[in-house]
Amino acid sequence: MKSQKKLLAKTASDILDLPEIDVLSAIEYPPQPELGDLAVPCFRFAKALRKSPQSIAEQVADGLAKSGLFAKVATAGGYVNITLNRVAVATETLQTVQQDVESLFSSRRGTGQKAAVDFSSPNIAKPFGVGHLRSTMIGQAIVRMLKMDGYEVAGVNHLGDWGTQFGKNIAAYLRWGDEETVKKNPVRELFHLYVRFHQEAEQNPALDDEARAWFKKLEDGDEEATRLWKWFIGESLKAFQQTYDLLGVSFDHYLGESFYNDKMQAVIEELGNKGLLVESEGAEVVDLSEWNMPPCIIRKSDGATIYATRDLAAALYRHDELGASHLIYVVGSEQSLHFAQVFKVLELMGRPWAQNCRHVAFGMMKYNGERLSTRRGKVVYLEDVLDRAIHEAKSIIEQKNPSLANKDDVARMVGIGAVVFNDLKSYRMHDVDFRYEDVLNFDGETGPYVQYTHARACSVLRKAEEAGLAVPTALGAAELSDVEWRLVYQIGQAGEIFERALDEFDPSLISRFVLDVCHAFNRFYHDSPILTAEGDVRALRLALTDAARIVIRQALYLVGVEAPEAM
Ligand code: ARG
Repeated sequence: MKSQKKLLAKTASDILDLPEIDVLSAIEYPPQPELGDLAVPCFRFAKALRKSPQSIAEQVADGLAKSGLFAKVATAGGYVNITLNRVAVATETLQTVQQDVESLFSSRRGTGQKAAVDFSSPNIAKPFGVGHLRSTMIGQAIVRMLKMDGYEVAGVNHLGDWGTQFGKNIAAYLRWGDEETVKKNPVRELFHLYVRFHQEAEQNPALDDEARAWFKKLEDGDEEATRLWKWFIGESLKAFQQTYDLLGVSFDHYLGESFYNDKMQAVIEELGNKGLLVESEGAEVVDLSEWNMPPCIIRKSDGATIYATRDLAAALYRHDELGASHLIYVVGSEQSLHFAQVFKVLELMGRPWAQNCRHVAFGMMKYNGERLSTRRGKVVYLEDVLDRAIHEAKSIIEQKNPSLANKDDVARMVGIGAVVFNDLKSYRMHDVDFRYEDVLNFDGETGPYVQYTHARACSVLRKAEEAGLAVPTALGAAELSDVEWRLVYQIGQAGEIFERALDEFDPSLISRFVLDVCHAFNRFYHDSPILTAEGDVRALRLALTDAARIVIRQALYLVGVEAPEAM
């Protein structure tokens, strides 16, 4: 849907003969609703037009009034304040929502392009902690937003399934592990063994040699090492899959680090041929000092390849084999330097699409205010958090609505929704704190609050249906009250917010948007009788309720939260 803001920008830029984009970026939302719905501050055009802001404002106001597109136009000093035509805007907005809600959000800017999104990417034999939740859910939201914007998307799980730690895992398992315990609880048991290995190796450094020897065997294709490694991966994946199922997350490709074992030689050769490799303390590196970065290590002094080499091979694979022109990596900010180095090396290798590589970083997840670290084994398992959230959601539902049908199903949606929404509601780069009481608070800015608002709209519409009242597809002549208008106005911002959320790769803008829509809907709901109203007024209110329901549901879908119809 073309937003009113864009319509205003286009009309005003024609009047002033200035680029539309300059006017668009100047447009503001007035601080008080009495001033109008949109404002054009003219101060910044004074220099280019060599006129005073006041006279520019008058010129704009004059032209806008003549256009007949807006209900009221007034100047105040260098500002033009514009009041929109409520009925016309509501009619268009509600129609768009009913006919094709995706077009309310997206103008399909990505049509014909393909993006690969690397997200979640946990490490095998290490716990999938609440910290990994961020990459998983931000990544999933970005995948959904890109798809809705017309991109073809490959969601890739770059599993950490290779590296020297597997030598440790094997050594520890053979010393202290047993098959049954691992099978029963693979991730925990393997991690437990890994932590024990670190503790014992502090007293007994010979263990490290043992681990190194096992990793060497694995690299050389030794049968027993390979069998154990594959088994660890299989068991871990089964456990991760359960978590993904619970979260409703899926991937188009599981391509772990080991997938690139045979694809790195070509990268190293190319780097060599292009004169990019230099020796440094026995290692082969790409010098990046010109860009104020430490060298990107390609091959360590012992000949082993590392993380960056794999990422170079993976990037080439995603571009050349998967056909992606945009490569997106949703990974914590502690890896910012790594990705800056990888992208720079791709550029030096003569890949212009390195421009379209993007590291989407995010803040830390704190659990009741504490940071988590895996090294010392202090870890909060995501599955435990999700189980407890579901459990607590269930007891809240038992209290509030004991006769609800499918309580278990709803408790799952609410418990998971609470955890996920909490993760996606603060700005991507901010740290996220996690507390059950906060995330499950039905009155706070939470997932359950949004879900509850959606269920409330569904309930009104169910009652309307029972009473034989249809949701109208066209609006009658009813004027919109201020609260009704706030709801339409809020919904009408979907397109602008969606574009910004995608440009900034920040799903939290969608979460804030849906909270705003819910606030506006709840104010409307408390202020305006719906079913007991009559004629055009009731029709308008039913249509608004339906639109709010559809928009909330769609926005929740984007951030990966389910919307139960009753709760
Ligand atoms: N496995 C890594 C970790 O947990 C994240 C991998 C991110 N993706 C990548 N292509 N490097 O830290």
